[in-house]
Amino acid sequence: MTSHVLAAVAWPYANGPRHIGHVSGFGVPSDVFSRYQRMAGKNVLMVSGTDEHGTAIQVQADKEGLTPRQTADKYHGVISRDLANLGLAYDLYTRTTTRNHAAVVQELFRALHANGYIVAKTQLGAMSPSTGRTLPDRYIEGTCPHCGYDGARGDQCDNCGRQLDPIELKNPRSRINGETPQFIETEHLFLDLPALSEALGSWLETRRDWRPNVLKYSANLISELRPRPVTRDLEWGIPIPVEGWEDQSMKRIYVWFDAVVGYLSASIEWARRTGNPEAWREWWQNPEAASYYFMGKDNITFHSVIWPAMLLGANGQGARGGTPSAFGTLELPTEIVSSEYLTMSGSKFSTSRSTVLYVGDFLSEYGPDALRYFIAVAGPESQDADFTWDEFVRRTNTELVNEWGNLVNRSISMAHKNNGAIPTPGTLSDADTALLAASNGAFATVGSLLERCRFKAAVTESMRIVSLANKYLSDQEPWKLKDDPARRDTVLHTTLQVVSDANTMLTPFLPHASQRIHEALGGTGVWAAQPNLVEVDEEGGPSYPVLTGDYTAQQARWTSTPLPVGRPLVKPTPLFAKLDETLAETGPSWAPIG
Ligand code: MF3
Ligand code: ZN
Repeated sequence: MTSHVLAAVAWPYANGPRHIGHVSGFGVPSDVFSRYQRMAGKNVLMVSGTDEHGTAIQVQADKEGLTPRQTADKYHGVISRDLANLGLAYDLYTRTTTRNHAAVVQELFRALHANGYIVAKTQLGAMSPSTGRTLPDRYIEGTCPHCGYDGARGDQCDNCGRQLDPIELKNPRSRINGETPQFIETEHLFLDLPALSEALGSWLETRRDWRPNVLKYSANLISELRPRPVTRDLEWGIPIPVEGWEDQSMKRIYVWFDAVVGYLSASIEWARRTGNPEAWREWWQNPEAASYYFMGKDNITFHSVIWPAMLLGANGQGARGGTPSAFGTLELPTEIVSSEYLTMSGSKFSTSRSTVLYVGDFLSEYGPDALRYFIAVAGPESQDADFTWDEFVRRTNTELVNEWGNLVNRSISMAHKNNGAIPTPGTLSDADTALLAASNGAFATVGSLLERCRFKAAVTESMRIVSLANKYLSDQEPWKLKDDPARRDTVLHTTLQVVSDANTMLTPFLPHASQRIHEALGGTGVWAAQPNLVEVDEEGGPSYPVLTGDYTAQQARWTSTPLPVGRPLVKPTPLFAKLDETLAETGPSWAPIG
Protein backbone atom coordinates (compact mmCIF):
# COMPACT_ATOMS: atom_id res chain seq x y z
CA MET A 1 0.00 0.00 0.00
CA THR A 2 1.04 3.53 -0.80
CA SER A 3 2.13 5.36 2.28
CA HIS A 4 3.51 8.51 0.65
CA VAL A 5 1.07 10.83 -1.04
CA LEU A 6 2.15 13.97 -2.86
CA ALA A 7 -0.62 16.56 -3.22
CA ALA A 8 0.63 18.89 -5.95
CA VAL A 9 -1.63 21.91 -6.08
CA ALA A 10 -1.74 24.33 -9.04
CA TRP A 11 0.14 27.59 -8.49
CA PRO A 12 -2.02 30.73 -8.65
CA TYR A 13 -0.69 33.68 -10.67
CA ALA A 14 0.53 36.70 -8.72
CA ASN A 15 -1.41 39.10 -10.93
CA GLY A 16 -4.24 39.88 -8.54
CA PRO A 17 -6.23 38.55 -5.62
CA ARG A 18 -7.81 35.14 -6.21
CA HIS A 19 -11.57 34.79 -6.63
CA ILE A 20 -13.71 31.95 -5.40
CA GLY A 21 -13.64 30.32 -8.85
CA HIS A 22 -9.90 29.80 -8.46
CA VAL A 23 -10.05 28.19 -5.04
CA SER A 24 -12.91 25.96 -6.15
CA GLY A 25 -10.63 24.58 -8.87
CA PHE A 26 -7.38 23.86 -7.06
CA GLY A 27 -7.75 24.92 -3.42
CA VAL A 28 -10.61 23.28 -1.59
CA PRO A 29 -10.46 19.91 -3.43
CA SER A 30 -6.74 19.48 -2.73
CA ASP A 31 -7.12 20.39 0.93
CA VAL A 32 -10.10 18.09 1.52
CA PHE A 33 -8.14 15.28 -0.11
CA SER A 34 -4.93 15.94 1.84
CA ARG A 35 -6.70 16.28 5.16
CA TYR A 36 -8.47 12.97 4.53
CA GLN A 37 -5.21 11.22 3.56
CA ARG A 38 -3.47 12.48 6.70
CA MET A 39 -6.39 11.25 8.82
CA ALA A 40 -6.07 7.88 7.07
CA GLY A 41 -2.45 7.72 8.23
CA LYS A 42 -0.64 8.58 4.99
CA ASN A 43 2.54 10.62 4.77
CA VAL A 44 1.17 13.56 2.88
CA LEU A 45 3.28 16.26 1.29
CA MET A 46 1.11 19.10 0.04
CA VAL A 47 3.02 21.75 -1.88
CA SER A 48 2.34 24.77 -4.03
CA GLY A 49 3.13 28.45 -4.23
CA THR A 50 2.54 31.61 -6.14
CA ASP A 51 3.31 31.62 -9.89
CA GLU A 52 5.16 34.91 -10.23
CA HIS A 53 6.97 35.05 -13.55
CA GLY A 54 5.75 35.62 -17.07
CA THR A 55 3.58 37.95 -19.02
CA ALA A 56 0.54 37.94 -16.77
CA ILE A 57 2.58 39.52 -13.99
CA GLN A 58 4.45 41.87 -16.33
CA VAL A 59 1.16 43.13 -17.74
CA GLN A 60 -0.36 43.66 -14.29
CA ALA A 61 2.79 45.48 -13.15
CA ASP A 62 2.56 47.85 -16.11
CA LYS A 63 -1.07 48.48 -15.27
CA GLU A 64 -0.28 49.37 -11.65
CA GLY A 65 2.91 51.29 -12.33
CA LEU A 66 4.96 48.77 -10.34
CA THR A 67 7.90 46.54 -11.19
CA PRO A 68 7.04 42.88 -11.75
CA ARG A 69 8.89 42.07 -8.53
CA GLN A 70 6.78 44.56 -6.54
CA THR A 71 3.64 43.15 -8.09
CA ALA A 72 4.68 39.61 -7.23
CA ASP A 73 5.48 40.63 -3.64
CA LYS A 74 2.15 42.35 -3.27
CA TYR A 75 -0.05 39.55 -4.57
CA HIS A 76 2.00 36.73 -3.08
CA GLY A 77 1.22 38.39 0.26
CA VAL A 78 -2.49 38.76 -0.47
CA ILE A 79 -2.88 35.24 -1.88
CA SER A 80 -0.95 33.52 0.95
CA ARG A 81 -3.11 35.28 3.52
CA ASP A 82 -6.32 34.28 1.75
CA LEU A 83 -5.25 30.65 1.42
CA ALA A 84 -4.25 30.57 5.10
CA ASN A 85 -7.61 32.02 6.11
CA LEU A 86 -9.39 29.43 4.02
CA GLY A 87 -7.54 26.83 6.09
CA LEU A 88 -5.60 25.19 3.24
CA ALA A 89 -3.13 22.98 5.07
CA TYR A 90 -0.07 23.15 2.83
CA ASP A 91 3.15 21.63 4.05
CA LEU A 92 4.74 24.40 2.05
CA TYR A 93 3.17 27.17 0.05
CA THR A 94 6.08 29.15 -1.38
CA ARG A 95 6.74 31.21 -4.54
CA THR A 96 8.59 30.94 -7.83
CA THR A 97 10.94 33.88 -7.27
CA THR A 98 13.15 32.03 -4.79
CA ARG A 99 16.76 31.14 -5.58
CA ASN A 100 16.01 27.53 -4.82
CA HIS A 101 13.25 27.44 -7.43
CA ALA A 102 15.43 29.08 -10.11
CA ALA A 103 18.21 26.59 -9.43
CA VAL A 104 15.90 23.56 -9.69
CA VAL A 105 14.27 24.88 -12.89
CA GLN A 106 17.66 25.53 -14.46
CA GLU A 107 18.93 22.09 -13.57
CA LEU A 108 15.94 20.40 -15.25
CA PHE A 109 16.28 22.69 -18.26
CA ARG A 110 19.98 21.91 -18.48
CA ALA A 111 19.36 18.16 -18.25
CA LEU A 112 16.68 18.28 -20.95
CA HIS A 113 19.05 20.25 -23.16
CA ALA A 114 21.98 17.95 -22.49
CA ASN A 115 19.81 14.90 -23.26
CA GLY A 116 18.83 16.45 -26.59
CA TYR A 117 15.19 17.21 -25.83
CA ILE A 118 15.56 20.98 -26.06
CA VAL A 119 16.48 22.31 -29.49
CA ALA A 120 16.84 25.78 -31.04
CA LYS A 121 14.49 26.87 -33.82
CA THR A 122 13.50 30.06 -35.51
CA GLN A 123 9.87 30.97 -35.46
CA LEU A 124 7.62 33.86 -36.27
CA GLY A 125 6.85 35.69 -33.07
CA ALA A 126 4.11 38.23 -32.48
CA MET A 127 5.11 41.76 -31.57
CA SER A 128 3.04 44.72 -30.52
CA PRO A 129 3.59 47.50 -33.10
CA SER A 130 2.84 50.22 -30.53
CA THR A 131 5.23 49.07 -27.78
CA GLY A 132 7.80 47.07 -29.73
CA ARG A 133 7.44 44.31 -27.12
CA THR A 134 6.72 40.71 -27.92
CA LEU A 135 3.14 39.67 -27.44
CA PRO A 136 2.88 36.39 -25.60
CA ASP A 137 0.67 33.69 -27.07
CA ARG A 138 -1.96 33.93 -24.40
CA TYR A 139 -2.41 37.61 -25.09
CA ILE A 140 -3.37 37.12 -28.69
CA GLU A 141 -6.92 36.31 -29.57
CA GLY A 142 -8.52 35.37 -32.86
CA THR A 143 -10.53 32.81 -34.77
CA CYS A 144 -9.55 29.15 -34.38
CA PRO A 145 -8.47 27.66 -37.75
CA HIS A 146 -9.89 24.26 -36.73
CA CYS A 147 -13.32 24.98 -35.29
CA GLY A 148 -13.98 28.62 -36.15
CA TYR A 149 -14.37 29.68 -32.51
CA ASP A 150 -13.70 33.40 -32.31
CA GLY A 151 -12.28 33.59 -28.79
CA ALA A 152 -9.32 31.24 -29.39
CA ARG A 153 -6.02 32.25 -27.77
CA GLY A 154 -2.58 32.14 -29.33
CA ASP A 155 -1.60 29.08 -27.30
CA GLN A 156 -4.79 27.07 -27.30
CA CYS A 157 -8.41 27.02 -28.38
CA ASP A 158 -10.67 26.59 -25.36
CA ASN A 159 -13.50 25.49 -27.62
CA CYS A 160 -11.90 22.50 -29.38
CA GLY A 161 -8.93 22.11 -27.05
CA ARG A 162 -6.27 22.15 -29.78
CA GLN A 163 -2.82 23.59 -29.22
CA LEU A 164 -2.20 26.56 -31.48
CA ASP A 165 0.52 28.89 -32.64
CA PRO A 166 -0.48 32.56 -32.75
CA ILE A 167 0.37 32.67 -36.45
CA GLU A 168 -2.42 30.17 -37.17
CA LEU A 169 -5.17 32.41 -35.77
CA LYS A 170 -7.39 34.18 -38.23
CA ASN A 171 -7.93 37.89 -37.45
CA PRO A 172 -5.32 37.94 -34.70
CA ARG A 173 -5.57 40.84 -32.23
CA SER A 174 -3.92 41.82 -28.98
CA ARG A 175 -6.00 41.18 -25.89
CA ILE A 176 -4.16 44.04 -24.20
CA ASN A 177 -5.11 46.83 -26.59
CA GLY A 178 -6.88 45.29 -29.56
CA GLU A 179 -4.20 46.11 -32.14
CA THR A 180 -3.15 43.66 -34.86
CA PRO A 181 0.18 42.03 -33.98
CA GLN A 182 3.16 42.04 -36.33
CA PHE A 183 4.99 38.78 -36.86
CA ILE A 184 8.80 38.85 -36.84
CA GLU A 185 11.53 36.16 -36.95
CA THR A 186 12.89 35.21 -33.57
CA GLU A 187 15.00 32.31 -32.26
CA HIS A 188 13.77 30.19 -29.39
CA LEU A 189 14.44 26.94 -27.60
CA PHE A 190 11.83 24.23 -28.08
CA LEU A 191 10.93 21.19 -26.06
CA ASP A 192 11.11 18.41 -28.62
CA LEU A 193 7.83 16.72 -27.75
CA PRO A 194 7.83 14.36 -30.75
CA ALA A 195 11.01 12.76 -29.34
CA LEU A 196 9.11 12.12 -26.12
CA SER A 197 5.74 11.12 -27.53
CA GLU A 198 6.37 7.39 -27.62
CA ALA A 199 7.45 7.33 -23.99
CA LEU A 200 4.51 9.54 -23.12
CA GLY A 201 2.13 7.22 -24.95
CA SER A 202 3.36 4.11 -23.12
CA TRP A 203 3.11 5.89 -19.81
CA LEU A 204 -0.39 7.15 -20.58
CA GLU A 205 -1.45 3.57 -21.34
CA THR A 206 -0.68 2.69 -17.73
CA ARG A 207 -3.01 5.46 -16.45
CA ARG A 208 -6.14 3.37 -16.63
CA ASP A 209 -7.87 4.87 -13.63
CA TRP A 210 -7.81 8.49 -14.85
CA ARG A 211 -11.14 10.11 -15.51
CA PRO A 212 -12.06 9.13 -19.08
CA ASN A 213 -12.30 12.73 -20.31
CA VAL A 214 -8.78 13.58 -19.10
CA LEU A 215 -7.38 10.39 -20.57
CA LYS A 216 -9.00 10.88 -23.94
CA TYR A 217 -8.05 14.55 -24.08
CA SER A 218 -4.42 13.73 -23.26
CA ALA A 219 -4.22 10.84 -25.71
CA ASN A 220 -5.49 13.20 -28.43
CA LEU A 221 -2.84 15.75 -27.59
CA ILE A 222 -0.11 13.13 -27.77
CA SER A 223 -1.20 12.04 -31.23
CA GLU A 224 -0.44 15.48 -32.65
CA LEU A 225 2.54 16.71 -30.65
CA ARG A 226 4.87 19.30 -32.12
CA PRO A 227 7.97 20.91 -30.64
CA ARG A 228 6.88 23.58 -28.19
CA PRO A 229 8.78 26.77 -27.38
CA VAL A 230 10.03 26.85 -23.78
CA THR A 231 11.62 30.30 -23.94
CA ARG A 232 10.02 33.70 -24.43
CA ASP A 233 11.03 37.23 -25.37
CA LEU A 234 10.51 38.70 -21.95
CA GLU A 235 12.76 40.09 -19.22
CA TRP A 236 10.68 38.83 -16.31
CA GLY A 237 11.57 35.18 -15.90
CA ILE A 238 14.31 32.70 -15.06
CA PRO A 239 17.49 33.04 -17.17
CA ILE A 240 18.17 30.29 -19.70
CA PRO A 241 21.08 28.09 -18.54
CA VAL A 242 22.42 27.37 -22.03
CA GLU A 243 25.58 28.81 -23.56
CA GLY A 244 24.81 31.80 -25.73
CA TRP A 245 21.40 32.27 -24.12
CA GLU A 246 22.13 33.06 -20.49
CA ASP A 247 23.25 36.63 -21.06
CA GLN A 248 20.41 37.68 -23.34
CA SER A 249 18.37 39.96 -21.11
CA MET A 250 15.29 39.70 -23.32
CA LYS A 251 15.11 35.91 -23.39
CA ARG A 252 13.79 33.92 -20.45
CA ILE A 253 12.42 30.48 -19.65
CA TYR A 254 8.70 30.26 -20.43
CA VAL A 255 6.58 30.70 -17.32
CA TRP A 256 4.81 27.37 -17.67
CA PHE A 257 8.09 25.46 -17.84
CA ASP A 258 9.15 27.31 -14.71
CA ALA A 259 5.86 26.89 -12.80
CA VAL A 260 5.33 23.13 -13.15
CA VAL A 261 8.86 22.52 -11.83
CA GLY A 262 7.57 24.25 -8.69
CA TYR A 263 6.14 20.98 -7.42
CA LEU A 264 9.65 19.56 -7.24
CA SER A 265 11.40 22.74 -6.07
CA ALA A 266 8.83 23.32 -3.32
CA SER A 267 9.28 19.73 -2.14
CA ILE A 268 13.03 20.31 -2.00
CA GLU A 269 12.56 23.63 -0.17
CA TRP A 270 10.18 21.95 2.29
CA ALA A 271 12.72 19.20 2.99
CA ARG A 272 15.47 21.75 3.60
CA ARG A 273 13.28 23.85 5.90
CA THR A 274 12.31 20.83 7.98
CA GLY A 275 15.99 20.01 8.51
CA ASN A 276 15.94 16.78 6.51
CA PRO A 277 17.16 17.89 3.07
CA GLU A 278 16.85 14.45 1.45
CA ALA A 279 13.25 13.85 2.60
CA TRP A 280 11.67 15.01 -0.71
CA ARG A 281 13.03 11.87 -2.40
CA GLU A 282 10.47 9.69 -0.63
CA TRP A 283 7.73 11.28 -2.74
CA TRP A 284 9.64 11.80 -5.98
CA GLN A 285 11.88 8.79 -6.41
CA ASN A 286 9.70 6.18 -4.80
CA PRO A 287 7.61 4.14 -7.29
CA GLU A 288 5.29 3.22 -4.41
CA ALA A 289 4.44 6.86 -3.70
CA ALA A 290 1.31 8.34 -5.26
CA SER A 291 1.10 11.87 -6.66
CA TYR A 292 -2.16 13.75 -7.16
CA TYR A 293 -2.20 16.98 -9.14
CA PHE A 294 -5.09 19.41 -8.51
CA MET A 295 -6.13 22.12 -10.95
CA GLY A 296 -8.83 23.78 -13.02
CA LYS A 297 -9.52 22.24 -16.41
CA ASP A 298 -7.60 24.90 -18.37
CA ASN A 299 -4.40 23.53 -16.78
CA ILE A 300 -4.79 19.90 -17.86
CA THR A 301 -2.45 19.96 -20.87
CA PHE A 302 0.46 21.22 -18.83
CA HIS A 303 0.04 18.55 -16.18
CA SER A 304 -1.01 15.50 -18.18
CA VAL A 305 1.37 15.98 -21.12
CA ILE A 306 3.97 18.77 -20.81
CA TRP A 307 5.14 18.11 -17.24
CA PRO A 308 5.31 14.34 -17.76
CA ALA A 309 7.26 14.98 -20.99
CA MET A 310 9.69 17.23 -19.13
CA LEU A 311 10.17 14.56 -16.47
CA LEU A 312 10.75 11.81 -19.04
CA GLY A 313 13.28 13.93 -20.90
CA ALA A 314 15.11 15.00 -17.74
CA ASN A 315 15.17 11.35 -16.67
CA GLY A 316 16.69 10.41 -20.05
CA GLN A 317 13.70 8.23 -20.93
CA GLY A 318 12.71 9.54 -24.37
CA ALA A 319 13.66 8.40 -27.89
CA ARG A 320 17.09 10.04 -27.57
CA GLY A 321 17.91 8.36 -24.25
CA GLY A 322 20.18 10.35 -21.97
CA THR A 323 21.15 10.45 -18.31
CA PRO A 324 19.03 11.53 -15.37
CA SER A 325 19.32 15.09 -14.05
CA ALA A 326 20.99 15.84 -10.71
CA PHE A 327 17.66 14.90 -9.07
CA GLY A 328 17.84 11.30 -10.26
CA THR A 329 14.95 9.44 -11.85
CA LEU A 330 11.74 11.25 -10.97
CA GLU A 331 8.26 9.74 -10.85
CA LEU A 332 5.47 10.92 -13.17
CA PRO A 333 1.98 11.96 -11.96
CA THR A 334 -0.29 9.24 -10.64
CA GLU A 335 -3.54 11.21 -10.91
CA ILE A 336 -4.70 14.42 -12.54
CA VAL A 337 -7.63 15.82 -10.58
CA SER A 338 -9.16 18.61 -12.58
CA SER A 339 -12.20 20.72 -11.86
CA GLU A 340 -14.54 22.38 -14.29
CA TYR A 341 -15.42 26.06 -13.99
CA LEU A 342 -17.36 27.84 -11.33
CA THR A 343 -19.56 30.26 -13.21
CA MET A 344 -21.70 33.15 -12.13
CA SER A 345 -24.99 33.62 -13.96
CA GLY A 346 -23.67 31.22 -16.54
CA SER A 347 -20.41 32.97 -17.42
CA LYS A 348 -16.94 31.89 -16.34
CA PHE A 349 -15.68 33.68 -13.23
CA SER A 350 -13.39 36.30 -14.52
CA THR A 351 -11.66 39.35 -13.21
CA SER A 352 -12.27 41.23 -16.43
CA ARG A 353 -16.04 40.97 -16.03
CA SER A 354 -18.00 42.21 -13.07
CA THR A 355 -18.66 38.63 -11.99
CA VAL A 356 -15.91 38.39 -9.44
CA LEU A 357 -16.10 37.43 -5.79
CA TYR A 358 -12.72 37.71 -4.11
CA VAL A 359 -11.73 35.11 -1.56
CA GLY A 360 -10.69 37.76 0.97
CA ASP A 361 -14.04 39.57 0.87
CA PHE A 362 -15.93 36.32 1.01
CA LEU A 363 -13.99 35.00 4.01
CA SER A 364 -14.22 38.15 6.08
CA GLU A 365 -17.99 38.08 5.75
CA TYR A 366 -18.91 34.38 5.87
CA GLY A 367 -15.86 32.58 7.26
CA PRO A 368 -13.98 29.69 5.68
CA ASP A 369 -16.19 26.68 6.37
CA ALA A 370 -19.32 28.00 4.64
CA LEU A 371 -17.30 28.57 1.47
CA ARG A 372 -15.53 25.21 1.74
CA TYR A 373 -18.86 23.47 2.19
CA PHE A 374 -20.46 25.22 -0.75
CA ILE A 375 -17.55 24.34 -3.03
CA ALA A 376 -17.56 20.72 -1.92
CA VAL A 377 -21.28 20.17 -2.22
CA ALA A 378 -22.20 22.46 -5.13
CA GLY A 379 -18.87 23.21 -6.81
CA PRO A 380 -17.64 22.40 -10.33
CA GLU A 381 -16.31 18.91 -9.55
CA SER A 382 -17.39 17.18 -12.74
CA GLN A 383 -19.30 19.86 -14.65
CA ASP A 384 -19.48 23.63 -14.66
CA ALA A 385 -21.42 24.87 -11.65
CA ASP A 386 -23.14 28.18 -11.20
CA PHE A 387 -22.57 30.20 -8.05
CA THR A 388 -25.74 31.96 -6.95
CA TRP A 389 -26.39 33.78 -3.68
CA ASP A 390 -29.70 32.01 -3.53
CA GLU A 391 -28.00 28.61 -3.50
CA PHE A 392 -25.34 29.79 -1.07
CA VAL A 393 -27.98 31.04 1.38
CA ARG A 394 -30.04 27.86 1.01
CA ARG A 395 -27.08 25.48 1.50
CA THR A 396 -25.75 27.44 4.45
CA ASN A 397 -29.06 27.91 6.22
CA THR A 398 -30.66 24.53 5.65
CA GLU A 399 -27.65 22.22 5.62
CA LEU A 400 -24.99 23.83 7.79
CA VAL A 401 -27.15 25.80 10.23
CA ASN A 402 -30.37 23.76 10.50
CA GLU A 403 -29.11 20.25 9.93
CA TRP A 404 -25.57 20.10 11.23
CA GLY A 405 -25.28 23.12 13.55
CA ASN A 406 -28.58 22.36 15.24
CA LEU A 407 -27.82 18.69 15.78
CA VAL A 408 -24.52 19.57 17.44
CA ASN A 409 -26.07 22.31 19.52
CA ARG A 410 -29.20 20.46 20.60
CA SER A 411 -27.45 17.27 21.57
CA ILE A 412 -24.45 18.72 23.39
CA SER A 413 -26.56 21.38 25.16
CA MET A 414 -29.02 18.77 26.37
CA ALA A 415 -26.34 16.45 27.67
CA HIS A 416 -24.49 19.39 29.17
CA LYS A 417 -27.61 20.47 31.04
CA ASN A 418 -28.64 16.98 32.16
CA ASN A 419 -25.30 15.33 32.78
CA GLY A 420 -22.58 17.94 32.42
CA ALA A 421 -20.48 15.17 30.88
CA ILE A 422 -20.63 12.33 28.35
CA PRO A 423 -23.54 10.23 29.69
CA THR A 424 -23.33 6.52 30.45
CA PRO A 425 -25.18 4.37 27.93
CA GLY A 426 -27.46 1.51 29.04
CA THR A 427 -28.78 -1.37 26.94
CA LEU A 428 -29.08 -0.35 23.29
CA SER A 429 -32.41 -0.50 21.46
CA ASP A 430 -32.68 -1.49 17.79
CA ALA A 431 -32.91 2.18 16.83
CA ASP A 432 -29.69 2.94 18.73
CA THR A 433 -27.84 0.04 17.15
CA ALA A 434 -29.09 0.89 13.67
CA LEU A 435 -27.94 4.50 13.90
CA LEU A 436 -24.52 3.56 15.29
CA ALA A 437 -24.07 0.95 12.56
CA ALA A 438 -24.96 3.44 9.82
CA SER A 439 -22.50 5.96 11.14
CA ASN A 440 -19.77 3.38 11.63
CA GLY A 441 -20.27 2.01 8.15
CA ALA A 442 -20.03 5.46 6.61
CA PHE A 443 -16.30 5.67 7.37
CA ALA A 444 -15.56 3.09 4.69
CA THR A 445 -18.01 4.55 2.17
CA VAL A 446 -16.99 8.16 2.60
CA GLY A 447 -13.31 7.22 2.82
CA SER A 448 -13.39 5.37 -0.46
CA LEU A 449 -15.18 8.29 -2.13
CA LEU A 450 -12.53 10.71 -0.85
CA GLU A 451 -9.76 8.44 -2.04
CA ARG A 452 -11.24 8.75 -5.52
CA CYS A 453 -11.71 12.52 -5.15
CA ARG A 454 -15.49 12.21 -5.30
CA PHE A 455 -15.97 15.12 -2.93
CA LYS A 456 -19.61 15.90 -3.59
CA ALA A 457 -20.69 12.31 -3.02
CA ALA A 458 -18.50 12.11 0.09
CA VAL A 459 -19.93 15.19 1.76
CA THR A 460 -23.45 14.16 0.78
CA GLU A 461 -23.00 10.75 2.40
CA SER A 462 -21.64 12.35 5.59
CA MET A 463 -24.62 14.68 5.69
CA ARG A 464 -26.93 11.69 5.28
CA ILE A 465 -25.64 10.43 8.64
CA VAL A 466 -26.38 13.87 10.10
CA SER A 467 -29.98 13.62 8.83
CA LEU A 468 -30.33 10.14 10.29
CA ALA A 469 -29.16 11.45 13.65
CA ASN A 470 -31.62 14.35 13.51
CA LYS A 471 -34.44 11.94 12.73
CA TYR A 472 -33.34 9.63 15.54
CA LEU A 473 -33.36 12.50 18.01
CA SER A 474 -36.86 13.61 16.95
CA ASP A 475 -38.11 10.02 17.17
CA GLN A 476 -36.55 9.28 20.55
CA GLU A 477 -37.51 12.62 22.12
CA PRO A 478 -34.99 12.49 24.99
CA TRP A 479 -36.48 15.76 26.33
CA LYS A 480 -39.61 13.74 27.25
CA LEU A 481 -37.62 11.13 29.15
CA LYS A 482 -37.34 12.96 32.49
CA ASP A 483 -38.80 9.93 34.24
CA ASP A 484 -36.49 7.49 32.55
CA PRO A 485 -33.01 8.99 32.98
CA ALA A 486 -31.27 5.73 32.07
CA ARG A 487 -32.96 5.63 28.66
CA ARG A 488 -32.41 9.35 28.21
CA ASP A 489 -28.68 8.90 28.88
CA THR A 490 -28.53 6.08 26.36
CA VAL A 491 -30.21 8.22 23.70
CA LEU A 492 -27.94 11.17 24.42
CA HIS A 493 -24.85 8.99 24.45
CA THR A 494 -25.82 7.44 21.13
CA THR A 495 -26.48 10.85 19.62
CA LEU A 496 -23.21 12.31 20.85
CA GLN A 497 -21.28 9.33 19.53
CA VAL A 498 -22.81 9.88 16.09
CA VAL A 499 -22.14 13.63 16.34
CA SER A 500 -18.52 12.75 17.03
CA ASP A 501 -18.42 10.33 14.08
CA ALA A 502 -20.06 12.80 11.70
CA ASN A 503 -17.67 15.46 12.94
CA THR A 504 -14.74 13.20 12.08
CA MET A 505 -16.10 12.58 8.59
CA LEU A 506 -16.78 16.26 8.03
CA THR A 507 -13.34 17.32 9.31
CA PRO A 508 -11.72 17.47 5.84
CA PHE A 509 -14.53 19.74 4.67
CA LEU A 510 -15.15 21.82 7.80
CA PRO A 511 -11.84 21.81 9.71
CA HIS A 512 -12.54 24.97 11.72
CA ALA A 513 -15.96 23.84 12.92
CA SER A 514 -14.59 20.37 13.64
CA GLN A 515 -12.07 21.78 16.12
CA ARG A 516 -14.84 23.61 17.99
CA ILE A 517 -17.05 20.53 18.10
CA HIS A 518 -14.12 18.50 19.40
CA GLU A 519 -13.78 21.03 22.23
CA ALA A 520 -17.53 21.16 22.96
CA LEU A 521 -17.43 17.37 23.30
CA GLY A 522 -14.80 17.90 25.97
CA GLY A 523 -11.78 17.11 23.80
CA THR A 524 -8.55 19.04 24.29
CA GLY A 525 -5.56 19.82 22.07
CA VAL A 526 -5.46 20.10 18.30
CA TRP A 527 -8.08 18.07 16.44
CA ALA A 528 -7.62 19.59 12.96
CA ALA A 529 -4.45 21.64 12.46
CA GLN A 530 -4.40 24.88 10.53
CA PRO A 531 -1.57 26.29 8.40
CA ASN A 532 0.69 29.02 9.72
CA LEU A 533 1.80 32.04 7.77
CA VAL A 534 5.47 32.56 8.62
CA GLU A 535 8.25 34.79 7.35
CA VAL A 536 11.33 32.96 6.02
CA ASP A 537 14.40 33.78 3.95
CA GLU A 538 17.20 32.16 1.98
CA GLU A 539 20.66 32.71 3.44
CA GLY A 540 20.54 36.44 3.80
CA GLY A 541 18.18 37.02 0.89
CA PRO A 542 14.96 39.03 1.31
CA SER A 543 12.36 37.53 3.61
CA TYR A 544 9.00 36.37 2.30
CA PRO A 545 5.87 34.76 3.73
CA VAL A 546 5.16 31.05 3.27
CA LEU A 547 2.47 28.73 4.57
CA THR A 548 3.56 25.70 6.54
CA GLY A 549 2.15 23.62 9.33
CA ASP A 550 2.69 20.74 11.68
CA TYR A 551 -0.04 18.30 10.78
CA THR A 552 1.50 15.25 12.41
CA ALA A 553 0.47 16.45 15.88
CA GLN A 554 -3.25 16.69 15.09
CA GLN A 555 -5.54 14.09 16.61
CA ALA A 556 -8.08 13.58 13.82
CA ARG A 557 -8.05 9.95 12.58
CA TRP A 558 -10.34 8.37 10.00
CA THR A 559 -12.19 6.10 12.41
CA SER A 560 -14.95 6.19 15.00
CA THR A 561 -13.44 7.21 18.34
CA PRO A 562 -15.55 5.96 21.30
CA LEU A 563 -16.47 8.92 23.52
CA PRO A 564 -15.13 8.51 27.05
CA VAL A 565 -18.03 8.31 29.52
CA GLY A 566 -17.83 11.01 32.18
CA ARG A 567 -15.67 13.45 30.21
CA PRO A 568 -16.97 16.97 30.95
CA LEU A 569 -18.84 18.72 28.14
CA VAL A 570 -18.53 22.39 27.28
CA LYS A 571 -21.70 24.34 26.54
CA PRO A 572 -21.60 24.90 22.77
CA THR A 573 -22.03 28.23 21.03
CA PRO A 574 -23.69 28.41 17.57
CA LEU A 575 -21.38 26.88 14.96
CA PHE A 576 -22.56 28.63 11.81
CA ALA A 577 -24.19 32.02 11.39
CA LYS A 578 -27.61 32.00 9.77
CA LEU A 579 -27.66 34.19 6.66
CA ASP A 580 -30.27 36.85 6.10
CA GLU A 581 -32.64 35.54 3.41
CA THR A 582 -32.56 38.86 1.57
CA LEU A 583 -28.93 38.15 0.68
CA ALA A 584 -30.32 35.80 -1.99
CA GLU A 585 -31.90 38.75 -3.79
CA THR A 586 -29.50 41.58 -3.07
CA GLY A 587 -26.08 39.97 -2.80
CA PRO A 588 -23.62 41.46 -0.28
CA SER A 589 -22.85 45.18 -0.23
CA TRP A 590 -19.38 44.54 -1.71
CA ALA A 591 -20.82 42.59 -4.69
CA PRO A 592 -24.45 43.64 -5.15
CA ILE A 593 -26.60 41.70 -7.60
CA GLY A 594 -27.64 43.46 -10.79
N1 MF3 B 1 -0.59 29.93 -12.75
C1 MF3 B 1 -1.33 28.98 -13.54
C2 MF3 B 1 -2.79 29.40 -13.65
O1 MF3 B 1 -3.26 30.09 -12.78
C3 MF3 B 1 -1.28 27.59 -12.94
C4 MF3 B 1 0.09 27.07 -12.82
S1 MF3 B 1 0.06 25.50 -12.21
C5 MF3 B 1 1.65 24.96 -12.30
O2 MF3 B 1 -3.45 29.01 -14.61
F1 MF3 B 1 1.64 23.80 -12.66
F2 MF3 B 1 2.30 25.60 -13.16
F3 MF3 B 1 2.17 25.06 -11.19
ZN1 ZN C 1 -10.92 25.51 -31.94
